[in-house]
Amino acid sequence: MRVSKEELFNLMKQKFIKAGLNEGAAHDVSDVLTFADHRGIHSHGAVRVEYYSERIAKGGITANPNYTFEQTGPCSAVFGGDNGPGHQVAKQAMEKAIDMAKQSGVAVVGMKNISHSGALGYFVEMAAEQDMVAISMCQSDPMAVPFGGTEPYFGTNPIAFSAPSADDRIITFDMATTVQAWGKILDARSKNESIPDTWAVDETGAPTTNARDVHALLPISGAKGYGLMMMVDILSGSLLGVPHGMHVSSMYQDLTKGRDLGQLHIVINPAYFTNLDAFKRQISTMLDELKGQPAAEGYGEIYYPGERGKLRSAKYDKEGIEIVDDIYNYLVSDDVHFDRYHGKNRFAE
Ligand code: NAI
Repeated sequence: MRVSKEELFNLMKQKFIKAGLNEGAAHDVSDVLTFADHRGIHSHGAVRVEYYSERIAKGGITANPNYTFEQTGPCSAVFGGDNGPGHQVAKQAMEKAIDMAKQSGVAVVGMKNISHSGALGYFVEMAAEQDMVAISMCQSDPMAVPFGGTEPYFGTNPIAFSAPSADDRIITFDMATTVQAWGKILDARSKNESIPDTWAVDETGAPTTNARDVHALLPISGAKGYGLMMMVDILSGSLLGVPHGMHVSSMYQDLTKGRDLGQLHIVINPAYFTNLDAFKRQISTMLDELKGQPAAEGYGEIYYPGERGKLRSAKYDKEGIEIVDDIYNYLVSDDVHFDRYHGKNRFAE
């Protein structure tokens, strides 16, 4: 099924209002989810609406949260999320961080007690659109083994970075610190396909190619990805006084309780470090040079981070956004949720 960006946004917004969110929150969550589907990040778009709706309806996402914001120093602040919708918290916290970086050159804004915030690229791009450089990172539920381990300890702990250029290109590097998301394993399971032995391990910690034997995911690049996911957990968890590592709440176990997750935005105003125009021109030059680099056999051309998502958006603007039929049928139905997620394990099983 193909839908326009506007239709997708409106369908999601109406569903969230039915689930109990107020107009503003429903708008913000739907905007972030539409961004994800529009960029081709379907793992973090409309596919999540039913889960969020169930969690909102059961009280595990605060429908009318009381947010707090405390500026703790010239460049630092803590946003209390009251376990409201993570997408709205992260959006509002980024707006604050951008304002602070305009005043002080740098802003570090932590968010505590929030729920899942989706595709982090959305938030860092908000800063790049205002000539800032931004990094965002957050915790997620334990899914990945520590390097050499057998049991999940850290989440897929994503990290995103964005920077402006002198033209309309924005760099958006946005990734999970696991080789693959759990969704890709589910996909392989449903198609009875094998998976590469670099994605996940079985119960003994051995790499597996059988999607049905997967017990936990592997960090990207071995010990280096393991270190990176630990860094994300410390900066977006311990630094904010919320639970860490294996103590981070499960996505599905109890939908009646808030998740108490943490997230961190770092915004840097280039104008406080160098000439802003020269900085942006250098980024444009870098992108031109990368696009001019010879491609290895089988690659066609070199892309910069975020470019392929923008190309997908341009395609979807012409053809409509591709949405799985079942998801579309749910979105246009009167149903809020089907009680499918509460009490499930980390793999939603
Ligand atoms: P991915 O593997 O599709 O892409 C990672 C990065 O690599 C992107 O910046 C992409 O632009 C770049 N890239 C991919 N192919 C490229 C190519 N051929 N040339 C140049 N650059 C290329 O992303 P991943 O790891 O699957 O993450 C997807 C989304 O999931 C992200 O938006 C992330 O924030 C989100 N996420 C959110 C979580 C949460 O708890 N909120 C947890 C985990 C992921």
